[in-house]
Amino acid sequence: MSTTDNGRVAAVVIMAAGAGTRMKSATAKVLHPLAGRSMLSYAVEAASALEPEHLVVVVGHQRDQVEAHLSEIAPQVVTAVQEQLRGTGDAVRSGLVGLGELAGDVVVTSGDVPLLTGDTLRGLVEAHRGEGNAVTVLTTIAADPTGYGRIVRDGGEVTRIVEQRDAGETERAITEINAGIYVFDAQVLQAGIADLSDDNAQGELYLTDVIGFARGLGRRVGGSVLTDALQAEGVNDRIQLAALSTELNRRILRRWMAEGVTVIDPASTWVHDSVDLAPDVTLLPGTSLEGATSIASGAVIGPDTTLIDVEVDEGAHVVRTHATLAVIGPNAEVGPFSYLRPGTQLGVKGKIGAFVETKNATIGDGAKVPHLTYCGDATVGEGANIGAGTIFANYDGVTKSHTTVGKASFVGSDSVLVAPVEIADGAYVAAGSTITAAVGPGELAVARGQQRNIGGWVARKRAGTRTAAAAEEALRAEASTGQAATTQEDGQ
Ligand code: UD1
Ligand code: CA
Repeated sequence: MSTTDNGRVAAVVIMAAGAGTRMKSATAKVLHPLAGRSMLSYAVEAASALEPEHLVVVVGHQRDQVEAHLSEIAPQVVTAVQEQLRGTGDAVRSGLVGLGELAGDVVVTSGDVPLLTGDTLRGLVEAHRGEGNAVTVLTTIAADPTGYGRIVRDGGEVTRIVEQRDAGETERAITEINAGIYVFDAQVLQAGIADLSDDNAQGELYLTDVIGFARGLGRRVGGSVLTDALQAEGVNDRIQLAALSTELNRRILRRWMAEGVTVIDPASTWVHDSVDLAPDVTLLPGTSLEGATSIASGAVIGPDTTLIDVEVDEGAHVVRTHATLAVIGPNAEVGPFSYLRPGTQLGVKGKIGAFVETKNATIGDGAKVPHLTYCGDATVGEGANIGAGTIFANYDGVTKSHTTVGKASFVGSDSVLVAPVEIADGAYVAAGSTITAAVGPGELAVARGQQRNIGGWVARKRAGTRTAAAAEEALRAEASTGQAATTQEDGQ
């Protein structure tokens, strides 16, 4: 039995078979996300930091879901099935079944403690080896220990762990609790598990009873107190899920602030674990950064902005925006109230302004789409200007087609560009046009009804109204200043 061996950890067993009843969810408990990824993914990450020879996740309840998820996020992980939920001892037994005889250290942890880090596990293994223990239990001091197993000590050693339901009054007063994370000598664990009985208040096989077995062999059992108690906190319901999500987010933000990111209001700023931020990024209140989002130095994001898989380059400003799978170029401006859908690419110093929706659109350097526009399936050239209220009509009900607006071209307000259509470099489109045919370089395209002014219409058709009175007054004033009436029969 080599407990002081400094080799690899033989195995990590992650218990994740429990029913998670209190989540009241069709989704397995350990698949619920925090900061953008599953609870289980954090457990796998912490375990992987030990580089164990075997990494086993014990599955049971909703196991198809859990197995499918693991094969996606961690295909190297082995799963073992616990057929009946007979307790933590039985869970670990199920996890070890496929591994044969083991020597060295086995770490046991849970799929539902998302804040636990690989460093903490490494420290626990070191303590275990340093103290020459057969079992080392990770413990915390709880303000309210209700529901947890209590650590009973004799001197420095742990003599047993008593579950809430099996504890007497004095034991219930103990505030040092079992976090449910352990290092075992592999042989002691394997023999101890084979020896478990379910003679307890819950009729379960308690993993914690391996402690008594180890001590019966004359071996030492230690308890390592974790001061950062939140790391050992588990999730059993959605209230705890929210509390630990908030805490994880707080930790992620603290890490970024230490790296030089300004976060004006950490309480309303949410940053997924997968996001990358540069120094001198500023995050304003109500900002949520998700997925593979990366923000370069000097960029200011928010307030009230959600970016999912978005790349924001140096010095860009993104205000009150919702964006997915978009690239926002250096010193570009987006918002307020912009909606960037997948495939949006905004060039250097480009602008996507208020109430603009873009999709699959490349908007060139210095190009501006400032107001009230739908810009889908489009290429907008460098320095082009798209007037307020322009619609890129990309869909005819059957197919989607592309529109190109050339370099430095100018599309007048309230135009409809009916795709497929090409407006060349250096072209103009008159306001209010519906463009269905190509516009060449240097041309002005005018595609709208000509204006016609019908004199005296108000007096004839709206006699007696405020409008008619105003018209009469204006006409009188014109006549008295001797000006010729400017009203024309036809506009031009
Ligand atoms: C266990 C400990 C308790 C400790 C607490 C910390 C035992 C006997 N008690 O409590 O001392 O304070 O954890 O949270 O070990 N699981 C399975 N299969 C089962 C039962 C549980 O995989 O048959 C998994 C659960 O999914 C969970 C973990 O084991 O990930 C702990 O289970 P849970 O029921 O929360 O722990 P308790 O047994 O109540
Ligand atoms: Ca429990």
